Amino acid sequence: MSNRIKRRMRRLRTNESIRSLVRETRLSASDFIQPLFVVERPEDAGPIESMPGVSRYTVSQLGDIVGGIAQSNVPAVLLFGIPSGKDASASTAIEPDGIVPQAIRACRDVAKDLVIISDVCMCSYTDHGHCGIIREDRVDNDASSRRLGEIAVCHANAGADWVAPSAMMDGMVAAIRGALDDAGYDSTGILSYAVKYASSFYGPFREAADCAPQFSDRKTYQMDPANAGEALAEAKIDLDEGADMLMVKPAMAYLDVIHRVKSAHPDVPLAAYQVSGEYSMIQAAAQRDWIDEKRVVLESLTAIKRAGADMIITYWASKAAQWLRDES
Ligand code: PBG
Repeated sequence: MSNRIKRRMRRLRTNESIRSLVRETRLSASDFIQPLFVVERPEDAGPIESMPGVSRYTVSQLGDIVGGIAQSNVPAVLLFGIPSGKDASASTAIEPDGIVPQAIRACRDVAKDLVIISDVCMCSYTDHGHCGIIREDRVDNDASSRRLGEIAVCHANAGADWVAPSAMMDGMVAAIRGALDDAGYDSTGILSYAVKYASSFYGPFREAADCAPQFSDRKTYQMDPANAGEALAEAKIDLDEGADMLMVKPAMAYLDVIHRVKSAHPDVPLAAYQVSGEYSMIQAAAQRDWIDEKRVVLESLTAIKRAGADMIITYWASKAAQWLRDES
């Protein structure tokens, strides 16, 4: 009697069949969104040094790549354009035949049912590298939001299903919703990067998208990593402005924030972005055989979903989908 333990947790860990029956979180290819970098100049295409395994593609290479993604049952792509020209007001971001509109059409040509999401921001299109228009050394909030509305309309016109504004301007979702509706794109969805931190985990992306700020930093518009309550305010404001879905970014260091936003808005689809620095850290260790890439990636994606994300933007989307298929 001395050793009577009523609840033995290990009973339900006995073998893989039992563990599978009691598993609470399951990953599926349909959880994933594949980010893609698309370049206008052929000489900008090729591998990204700080993100081993990730490349930048030209529009003509995109067909094959997107065909493979659709085949792996990943339902969506998130497009980032790298234009050939930049200026102070991001004018190449609103060209009807600019890099993102071309990429959207190329994706649609090969994958009719693919959900095409476009990143709506200015940092790859401005010569100063900030996410908005500068006036008197500051990012001008309302002029930037108006510009983001124009960019969203440009992408919707090319066939984007959802636009994903990532500039962290106040009122940007309202400006985009208004601009889309006025242009007749009332069915284009908005996946707002509502909760985006001023994170050092974006380092490798700035090489990939050629978008590092040329002066100062992004702390006057992106959130302070120390704040979680503020995330709830950002989420609520974006929903009130008309966001259809929310995003928390980065993911792994912000699992508590994912959980809080999901708890506050259980009826709103939530995306989490496993960003470039998260990717590069795991790849760097895996390349040295310090960790097992597949196991660590699937564990990290499971953790992000367990925290409350319904969708995960990850550079491993297509690869993880294939791993899951191989295991089943
Ligand atoms: C652009 C943007 C960034 C990322 C997505 N959109 C960079 C930034 O804000 O500096 C980062 C994505 C990643 O690191 O994978 N505003």
